[in-house]
Amino acid sequence: MRRTVSDIRSMKTEGKKISMLTAYDASMARLLESCGVVDMFLVGDSLGMVMLGYDSTVPVTMEEMLHHAKAVRRGAPDAFIVGDMPFGAYQTSARDAVFNGMRFMKEAGCDAVKLEGGLVMCGVVRALVDAGISVMAHIGLTPQTAGQLGGYKVQGKGLDAARRLLAEARGLEEAGAFAVVMECIPSGLAQVISRGISIPTIGIGAGVHCDGQVLVTHDLLGMFDKFIPKFVKKFSNLSPIIKRSIEEYGAEVKAGSFPGPEHGFADQGDYSQLLNE
Ligand code: KIV
Repeated sequence: MRRTVSDIRSMKTEGKKISMLTAYDASMARLLESCGVVDMFLVGDSLGMVMLGYDSTVPVTMEEMLHHAKAVRRGAPDAFIVGDMPFGAYQTSARDAVFNGMRFMKEAGCDAVKLEGGLVMCGVVRALVDAGISVMAHIGLTPQTAGQLGGYKVQGKGLDAARRLLAEARGLEEAGAFAVVMECIPSGLAQVISRGISIPTIGIGAGVHCDGQVLVTHDLLGMFDKFIPKFVKKFSNLSPIIKRSIEEYGAEVKAGSFPGPEHGFADQGDYSQLLNE
């Protein structure tokens, strides 16, 4: 049965760790769902870099996000899916945010949306929640505005910055967010914030004391080597395996050893006479 926002929230109160992974297409979504250990699927705007070859998440559009979110829903009909609001889909006004949030729910069948930003986004979060759209917040390193933060750097360094992050997490909880992603912040600070709010914290580069963890699936599988952040653990290294398989395929095609008879279909007559007809 599909999880709900209240199931996710109760996992924190019950002390159960929450696992979230990215999914961008139906075949990966099907695989993740079959494992039965992933509590939330994130159709992250990281797909811009991982799947679409952009240099950052900034160019990603609503149409691209919806295209992938629909595929993930088709691949994992029972998963709890969070659609990531792309840059420009929610910063312009609460009205735009609600319009685009609705598209994730109605067109792609998402269960919730995620958006980046702290106190400045509380009004937008409130508007979405009032419109019936569940919101996961995202603070710390927010890749859509990494330029303003001085690049892809650890956030919350120093007590003032740490205080600000705690205030942001509290403000977002108050505004109605059901969970908050915390990216690239010191582990001790993540622990304090996790204790200081009642909604689940989902860490990425935020240490083990968060209520849950999220990673980009292609990173943990070793399938995206362009940029590997410190917080990534490669649970597999699939790139060389994929490369070797493709090289073998190419070599066998060129040598005429693939396909073998076992990959074909039995002849049903003498076809050579067709050329003389
Ligand atoms: O877009 C994404 O994949 C994300 C996660 C890394 C949190 O925002």
